[in-house]
Amino acid sequence: MSGERVAVGIVGAGPAGLLLSHLLHLAGIDSVVLENRSREDVEGTIRAGVLEQGTVDLLTEAGVGSRLHREASFHRGVYLRFAGATHHIDMQELTGGKRVTVYAQHEVIKDLVAARLAAGGDIRFGVSDVALEAIETGRPALRFTSGGEPRRIECDFIAGCDGSHGVSRHSLPAGTLQRYERIYPFGWFGVLVEAPPSSDELIYASHDRGFALVSTRSPTLQRMYLQCDPGDDVADWSDDRIWAEFRVRLETRDGWAPIEGPITQKVIVGMRSLVHEPMRHGRLFLAGDAAHVVPPTGAKGLNLAVADVRLLARALASFYRTKDESLLARYSDDCLRRIWKGQRFSWWLTTLLHRSDSDTAFDRRRQLAELDYITSSRAAMTSLAENYVGLPFE
Ligand code: FAD
Ligand code: DHB
Repeated sequence: MSGERVAVGIVGAGPAGLLLSHLLHLAGIDSVVLENRSREDVEGTIRAGVLEQGTVDLLTEAGVGSRLHREASFHRGVYLRFAGATHHIDMQELTGGKRVTVYAQHEVIKDLVAARLAAGGDIRFGVSDVALEAIETGRPALRFTSGGEPRRIECDFIAGCDGSHGVSRHSLPAGTLQRYERIYPFGWFGVLVEAPPSSDELIYASHDRGFALVSTRSPTLQRMYLQCDPGDDVADWSDDRIWAEFRVRLETRDGWAPIEGPITQKVIVGMRSLVHEPMRHGRLFLAGDAAHVVPPTGAKGLNLAVADVRLLARALASFYRTKDESLLARYSDDCLRRIWKGQRFSWWLTTLLHRSDSDTAFDRRRQLAELDYITSSRAAMTSLAENYVGLPFE
């Protein structure tokens, strides 16, 4: 078995793991990233689309924003649609210039992988059996299998950036983590559509039949979502049924209809809110979906992951510069303050826009009154806007 040594061992080549590795590199700290999927798979998985202003600024400052600035769509705000009418929320104006950036997660990943590899970074794709060892000691290690060979890498620290189904969180002794969870009785049916954009900005629609969202990916490819039953089978949703549902849920009194086209991908995602506390145990630090998950409505998951690794990179850089552990000691508390605000916002927007079987006619009237309030009160609109474009990092 080979024995290697690196400063920081990172599990997971998602946005959290790759950005952490890049930020550490900028601070002169070496790392290895272990990923159990192939590079093609990681770079091809369709997930998030909306980046907060702070995420865009951080990627730009870190030197990985040039393609984003060329290819992303920059929007002033979003549309809220309900009761047959559309209301624009001008977030740029309401937040003093912050914009909504639509740039797919897998494009962020491609940019980060390219930057790491160009700088000689060490990303091991397609490894298996990753296991964390001795995280309560000063010499933690990662064991894994690569090319059929068992490997072991000793580290100073391990970052668990392996998403909600990863191995890192489960390496902690039982009872170490407090789990806070809410599961929603609905899911999202996501489609990719070969068509030009139906709208110049995203449309969040609340209809008696449920939520619908019009997003985009490029001038020729659109991303749209429908609230569905999380137990639904993709096979039960024909293209005709999907379009009929979009037409109804997105209808306006002036006859708006989405531009239709061939549907090239269908996926169902469940929705939950989940936080594990604390985000550190010994020499293991959790970041991103490995520690917390939000329902996608507020477009916060990737952005929260980015905020976590920004703090983790800063705390590690401070440790290697001065041997001062105070930022590492504060890491979990500092992250969780912002994470809980992201959780609150994601829960609030989700319950505002979706229909639940247990909702009464009263609940629907209350939702519509709240939507009316948000779209007519500058104070309410500003609250929505500042959360959507991203609360300040500190
Ligand atoms: P992940 O992206 O899950 O990365 C974890 C990585 O670890 C993966 O590559 C995985 O293969 C790897 N891994 C797992 N287990 C192991 C193991 N045992 N060994 C080695 N590697 C392992 N967020 C937003 O901010 N904006 C949005 O608009 C948005 N929209 C979304 C829409 C949908 C439909 C969905 C599903 C999510 C959306 N999100 C959004 C959430 C966002 O995609 C996630 O929060 C984000 O991917 C979290 O990044 P991460 O790096 O923490 O985890
Ligand atoms: C997208 C995803 C979201 O969760 C959201 O709130 C808006 C857009 C997207 O995939 O484009």
